[in-house]
Amino acid sequence: MNFNKEEIHMKKSTSYGDAGFSNFIKMAFQRHLGYDEQDFNKPIIGIANTYSEINRCHSHVQPMVQAIKHGIIMAGGIPLEFPTISVGEMFTSPTTMLYRNLVAMDTEEMITAQPIDGVVLIGGCDKMAPAQLMGAASANKPAILFTGGPMDNGEYNGKTLGACSDCRFFWQEYQGGTVDEKEINEINEQLAPTAGHCMVMGSASTIASCAEALGMMLPGAAAAPATVNERLRLAKETGKAIVHLVEKDIRPSDIMTEKAFDNAVRTLMAIGGSTNAVIHLIAIARRLGINLTLDRFDELSKTTPFLANLRPAGEYQMKEFYYAGGVPVVLKELSPLLHLDERTVTGETLKDNLASTWRNPTYDHVIRPYEAPLYEEGGIAVLKGNLSPNGSVIKPKAIVNERFLKHKGKAVVFTSLEDMEKRVNDPDLEVDENSVLVLQNAGPVGAPGMPEAGMIPIPKKLLKEGVRDMVRLSDCRMSGTAFGTVILHVAPEAAVGGPIGLIRDGDWIELDVANRKLALLVSDEVLAERKNAWHAPETAPENKRGYKWLYRRHVLQADEGCDFDFALPEGKETMELTTA
Ligand code: FES
Repeated sequence: MNFNKEEIHMKKSTSYGDAGFSNFIKMAFQRHLGYDEQDFNKPIIGIANTYSEINRCHSHVQPMVQAIKHGIIMAGGIPLEFPTISVGEMFTSPTTMLYRNLVAMDTEEMITAQPIDGVVLIGGCDKMAPAQLMGAASANKPAILFTGGPMDNGEYNGKTLGACSDCRFFWQEYQGGTVDEKEINEINEQLAPTAGHCMVMGSASTIASCAEALGMMLPGAAAAPATVNERLRLAKETGKAIVHLVEKDIRPSDIMTEKAFDNAVRTLMAIGGSTNAVIHLIAIARRLGINLTLDRFDELSKTTPFLANLRPAGEYQMKEFYYAGGVPVVLKELSPLLHLDERTVTGETLKDNLASTWRNPTYDHVIRPYEAPLYEEGGIAVLKGNLSPNGSVIKPKAIVNERFLKHKGKAVVFTSLEDMEKRVNDPDLEVDENSVLVLQNAGPVGAPGMPEAGMIPIPKKLLKEGVRDMVRLSDCRMSGTAFGTVILHVAPEAAVGGPIGLIRDGDWIELDVANRKLALLVSDEVLAERKNAWHAPETAPENKRGYKWLYRRHVLQADEGCDFDFALPEGKETMELTTA
């Protein structure tokens, strides 16, 4: 063996300033792994495995990882599994969003540093797939996403249950006194009945669906439940596909083009997906130097029919979506609006992938035909005005009380998460059903990490009077499984001096979704006075050091994707935002 031979595979390895020695030592350790000369020129495929017992949405993925490995070997590659950070929604404090960028950095650096030719990313819970796609975009080695799939439906008393729309719905009813202690405990037992991630069209399923539309997942891979055999077959096919991507040298930048992002945004609108996907898609696009803006989301929303009847905006869940044909059927229906020549991880175009897809009319109640949509417009609207000059978002079809689509109400302001928790159920709180609940200082810098607190709890005393929706407004996010008249991602946020921080109790706020308007009805003079008197909120000591310090210093605003400024491609750190 000539250790100085250039063509030896995996030649990029630890540098000792002596290429021959580097190859010599590397081969010793390849043998240590059980490989020999005949393997040295095969494609090496990394599997970024996010299996974790704490991230329970990923705790079932090991058999799928084995199936991916089988696929890689069948296609002539060598699989090498490695761990990356794994964060799950339920057990990560204060919020997974604080760590999305850390996962993205971990993923990018491991893909870049390790001698792999391509990578399979194991996603699932809300922030994992976006982070992995951000990392893969920057690393730009051939990559493919695979998720553990959604849970099967829960059931209580003959009614289908879905995590976590029903976690929220029944908790609200419990607080309002219509569900008793025994019932809420029985419901709790059935909310997460099988392996998998949340089974409504929440953030996890939304991102998986958008990734499929982007071309980064195999057709059908987003919707197949964690519990069906097809997921193992899809895992095996994913293993084969990544080897072919490496052989053809098809990279994330070849797949995730500007047009592919349009396809993903239209899909988001047609499935009534999570508002979180807006932030994530912007972040992934910007990693590739693509300036995806809130204006583009609104433009595409206005011209995309709402097709999928899925909770929390509709009636059904991922299991029914899967049997209705899942994302491929949505894409087929949206075909007249899509860029069909975009390349995907199959190595083929979207058009090729959809050639044999057809909509089964039996499931028209789950996925509507293009010509007879649920609604004429897509599921997310972008609002602007003096209150959110850089934009904010709302899910009009998740509004419970439609009269709030156009509303004027007086502000009831909470200055922080802690303030909200302390006072929202205070019997003396001056609030009625027409009030606008405002939460300040819960944005990317303020919280920090922009938690999912945007579905501000309706005060208990109003719940008991039968109130089930109110206008709520914040600079944070809400879970993709949440619902109500909830205005989110107000930018710029309060903690960096945004107008949302200037709202005071009793100010009038106007919302007009049809006209995309969100206004604080206070004169410019008064706002200027308040701005002069404004000072940034105190920073807690634990946020002044380490990762949280880095995060607060470098995180971008919601309309910019909440990525780190230094993670964007050189020269793209200050992209001109059409939303500004
Ligand atoms: Fe992981 Fe909902 S908790 S997807």
